[in-house]
Parts: sequence; structure tokens; C-alpha cells
Amino acid sequence: KKVVLAYSGGLDTSIILKWLQTEYGCEVITFTADLGQGEELEPARAKAELMGIKKENIHIVDVREEFVRDFVFPMFRANALYEGLYLLGTSIARPLISKHLVEIAQKHGADAVAHGATGKGNDQVRFELSAAALDPSIRVIAPWRLWDLTSRTKLLEFAEANQIPIAKDKRGEAPFSVDANLLHTSSEGRVLEDPAQEFPNYVLQRVVPVEEAPDTPEMVEITFERGDAVAINGEAMSPATILAKLNEIGGKHGVGVLDLVENRFVGMKSRGVYETPGGTILLEAHRGIEQITLDAGAGHLKDSIMPRYAELIYNGFWFSPEREALQALIDKTQEHVSGTVRVKLYKGKASTVARWSDHSLYSEKHVTFEEDAGAYDQKDAAGFIRLNALRLRLIATRNARVAQK
Ligand code: ARG
Ligand code: SIN
Repeated sequence: KKVVLAYSGGLDTSIILKWLQTEYGCEVITFTADLGQGEELEPARAKAELMGIKKENIHIVDVREEFVRDFVFPMFRANALYEGLYLLGTSIARPLISKHLVEIAQKHGADAVAHGATGKGNDQVRFELSAAALDPSIRVIAPWRLWDLTSRTKLLEFAEANQIPIAKDKRGEAPFSVDANLLHTSSEGRVLEDPAQEFPNYVLQRVVPVEEAPDTPEMVEITFERGDAVAINGEAMSPATILAKLNEIGGKHGVGVLDLVENRFVGMKSRGVYETPGGTILLEAHRGIEQITLDAGAGHLKDSIMPRYAELIYNGFWFSPEREALQALIDKTQEHVSGTVRVKLYKGKASTVARWSDHSLYSEKHVTFEEDAGAYDQKDAAGFIRLNALRLRLIATRNARVAQK
């Protein structure tokens, strides 16, 4: 029996690795993704080797460009926000991890994949729905739903008994669960579990607290082509480089911190702190370029499906026909979403201050308060309003008549 484990190199997935070997008795293949979490990944290799994983069974893959190009950017074309606020930083990474787990399983002839998500959360659903969509016969092992290591204490005891090294910060007061990638860092648990309590600033890992942000604003210009960012300050860059660069300048200015109580797919509410500096700038800039390049009808239609699209991603249905159908609609609207936006970063806020494009629909000639040289006949508006008002008049007349009786 062979199983491919999504292995971070951290304490929890190291315990899972050991547990799969001992309690489950299977040959373990590890997959560690560089998603831009900003952690050295070679220690994960050393740790896996230490636990007896064969060299050819250790996979450490840099997926940063794939992540941003094929997952983050398509999602940003939709301006996706879950429950109005959450930029889906964890949700969008899960299908990519599943895709690689399944591919590696197929290559090694493994019949199962394993992950370290708990039985209480969204991540298990996302991993497993994605795996099912990509390989209908793959089995999934979710140790958190199987073992009796049900508390932090029991977990640490198991680690000690099996000589698994425990980093100091795993015993301290850090948030229980942190997930990071190029798009965001999320923190949940421990000090965050009471939503009536403000989060302490030490939770923040990549954004400076707003009160420490610089007193001088910074401008950044983002160029888009067909809805995707392609350059910063006039310099063309790859998708992952763009997001990394925006993270750096956004983080410095305290941009993109969110404290949210959200509805998990499994039914409970949970409180998280999210840091999405680059994504917050990108969303603002993308909306900025859409303002001048997107037709009102197409724009309002894509806005109306956005909550549904975001919910599909949150709930783990990235690889579903309905997400793909909505994506096709969204992508169609982006054909002319090209041009440049200037965003001002200041004290935690990213604001569009200028936008221009060869594809602009904005017509100063029509909108001007000055002489418009016959571009627009104001008399046309009288009939336009009269017909739109017709049914409102009929309703008001009816209501007055009925009220009299
Ligand atoms: N609540 C967020 C989501 O569902 C973040 C989950 C973080 N996951 C984690 N394993 N720490 O997308
Ligand atoms: C987990 O349960 O692994 C983290 C939280 C989530 O998946 O929503």
C-alpha cells in the first residue's frame, strides 16, 4: 500500500507521516509545495529522510507560478469575496495541492492520498472534492478523523514518543493554525477563538499594524491585460513576481488585514485573522480598471454571480462544471479589461486614484458638464424618464384609488 501525503514539514504533518507508517503500515510518499509561504522547504526534505522516506518518494515542488497564474488570477478576474470580505487565500490553494497529490499518486501507482486537515473544517472538503473530481477511484486518508490524538497534549506526547522534533513556538501562545501562501496568511484558534476579544498585534505575520505604517503614502501602478496584472510601475513581471511585489509594498503600509467571523461549509462559524496585502491591492486595482473598460451590462451580470462563484471556491468546488461555466462567463467579460491603474497606499488603505486605457469606454465628451458639441441631446432624457416612470405612476394611482375605499 502506498499513500501520497501533503507534507508541510511542520509538526502536525510529521506526526501524520509517522502515524501512517506505524498505525497504518503503508509506504509514504511526500508532497511539499512551495506556494510562497516564505518558509525554507529543504528542512522538510531532511525531516522526511530522517523519518525513513526514500529519496525518490520525496517531492518538493515550486508551484508558485502555477498557483498565481492558474488559480489566483482567474479568481481575481471575478473580484471574488466570500461573505463580502474574505479573499479566499486558503480556499484557492487547496485544489492546486490536490491536483499535485493526485498526479504524484498516479505516477507512483499509489491508491491513496492523505492530508492534515481536521474533521471540523473546510480544508478536508476542498482536498477531497478536488481529488474525487480529478481521479474518481482515489482513496483519501484523513488521520484527524481517524486517530485518537484528539488534543494538543496527546499530539505532543505522540511526537515525543516518536522522536519527532517540536519547534519551540508550537508550545507557546502562537495561534493554533496558520496557513500561508503567496496570496495570504490566515490565523485561527487559541487567542482568536473568542470573537468578543480583539486580536493581539503579534498575530500579524506579514502586514505591519496600521498604527506603525509610514506617514508618507506610496503610489503603485498596475497594468492589466484581459483582466490579469502583467506589470508593476511599467515593468513586466511574471504572475508570482507581481503578487510577491504587491505583498511587500502592501505589507509595509498595513494593507489587507481582515478580522472575520465566517460560516464554514460544515455548519459552524469560525473566527480568523487574514493578511492579504498584495491581493487587497490587486482587487482594488482590478476594480479600478474595470470601471473604465467594462460595459455596465456585462459588469453588473458578473457582479451578480460573484457571490455564488466565491461560495463554490470556498466550499471546495473549484473542479466542478458550474465553477467552470461561471469562469467562462467571467473570462468573456475580461476581453477588454486592459490598461493601467494607479493605487495609493496609505495607513492600511489601498485606493485607486487614477486609471487609463486604450480600451476605455469612458467618454468625457458625453459626460462633461461643459459644452458637449452635440454629443448628447438632453431632450432625449425626458422620454426615457417618462416611460420608465409609467408603471410607477400606474402603481401610485392604483394605491391611491384603493386607499380611498
Ligand atoms: N477559514 C479559512 C478558510 O476556510 C482559512 C482556513 C485555514 N486553514 C488552515 N488549515 N489553517 O479558507
Ligand atoms: C482545519 O480544520 O484543518 C483548518 C480549518 C479549516 O479547514 O477550515
